[in-house]
Amino acid sequence: MHDAVWINANLATMRDGYGVIQDGALAVTAGKISWIGARTAWKEQAREEHDARGAWITPGLVDCHTHLVYAGNRAHEFEMRLKGATYEEIARAGGGIVSTVRATRAASEEHLFHSAKKRIGQWLREGATTVEIKSGYGLDRDTELRMLRVARRLGDTITVKTTFLGAHALPEEYRGRADEYIDFVCNEVLPEAAKDGLVDAVDAFCERIAFDVAQTTKVFSKAKALGLPVKLHADQLSDLGGAALAACHGALSADHLEYSTENSVKAMQRAGTVAVLLPGAFYFLRDTQLPPIEALRRHGVPLAIATDHNPGSSPLTSPLLAMNLACTLFRLTPEEALTGMTRHAARALGLRATHGTLERGMQADFALWDIAAPAELAYAIGANPCLATVRAGESVRATL
Ligand code: NIG
Ligand code: FE
Repeated sequence: MHDAVWINANLATMRDGYGVIQDGALAVTAGKISWIGARTAWKEQAREEHDARGAWITPGLVDCHTHLVYAGNRAHEFEMRLKGATYEEIARAGGGIVSTVRATRAASEEHLFHSAKKRIGQWLREGATTVEIKSGYGLDRDTELRMLRVARRLGDTITVKTTFLGAHALPEEYRGRADEYIDFVCNEVLPEAAKDGLVDAVDAFCERIAFDVAQTTKVFSKAKALGLPVKLHADQLSDLGGAALAACHGALSADHLEYSTENSVKAMQRAGTVAVLLPGAFYFLRDTQLPPIEALRRHGVPLAIATDHNPGSSPLTSPLLAMNLACTLFRLTPEEALTGMTRHAARALGLRATHGTLERGMQADFALWDIAAPAELAYAIGANPCLATVRAGESVRATL
């Protein structure tokens, strides 16, 4: 006897391409998918039966790169950029990431929690069941830990993977002392956060306005010593060889990649590092340097898509719009975009065995959609056809 079954649904399992099962049935027991197949083959029994009325069911969307916990916003910097200032110039003049750091340091844990929880409603409304959340707007011990505690608490609402991003920017009090700051991050902040069980992975911003290859390597070595996987903000504004560096450390993912070279792409393929594309940041910064999509495809590097939600470079609160932008700006196909927000995104978080596809034994995280074909998810701009979001077999949001 299964706990519940959804019938009268078309399933996009995302096991291989869309992996379509027309007129399917999907059963759930104890939070896991316990049966999936054609409805005509369903001969078992379930305590509850849900009629999906022809809706499509996909895996719950997985947003594998966000900075969802922060205070304040940077609308004034948006105005400055539209008047001609660049993102880098604003950062060098003491704005950018460190301006959000000032606001976040001043915010209470409750404020950070409630503002992020409110934001996450938008992800749930659009069928997302898993998000990654980074620290990196504290850049001191207490605020980094506070951000990570908030991220963990948000796990009651949506499945959360936390990422420590202490090496996001140089805080003002360390001006001119970047190496000392990296030592502080590695010796005092990261071990403390890891000891408290607050860290699932470690990230850094390897860029000329942030940290160089040697400093990033130090952070990665510390992560390794603590048994934590790594990922990297790589090659967003210039080519420092970040993607190759990430691959060389066996990173789960290398993210952004606008300036990555073919050699870096090859290194990613060899290491099994996922390419996380962030079209929201590309769009919002009015970038023109495209990531090397063709080379990534040619070398068979898995492509994930994420919102990169953050107040500076990507105030994007819509996973569906991220998929649309990946298609319009990066020329991904709608199938690649949906794979990038499900199967490959789960892999970028080390969750491939349990999340990102509809298969027996996987976590019962899925979304129901009022669409006639899965390509509509990436096609519509600003529409939200999500009818229900189900996490571990429980409806977390439903209009059906
Ligand atoms: O992923 N690139 C670095 N970090 C963020 C931007 C953070 C910010 O501007 O506040 C990103 O784009
Ligand atoms: Fe980011």
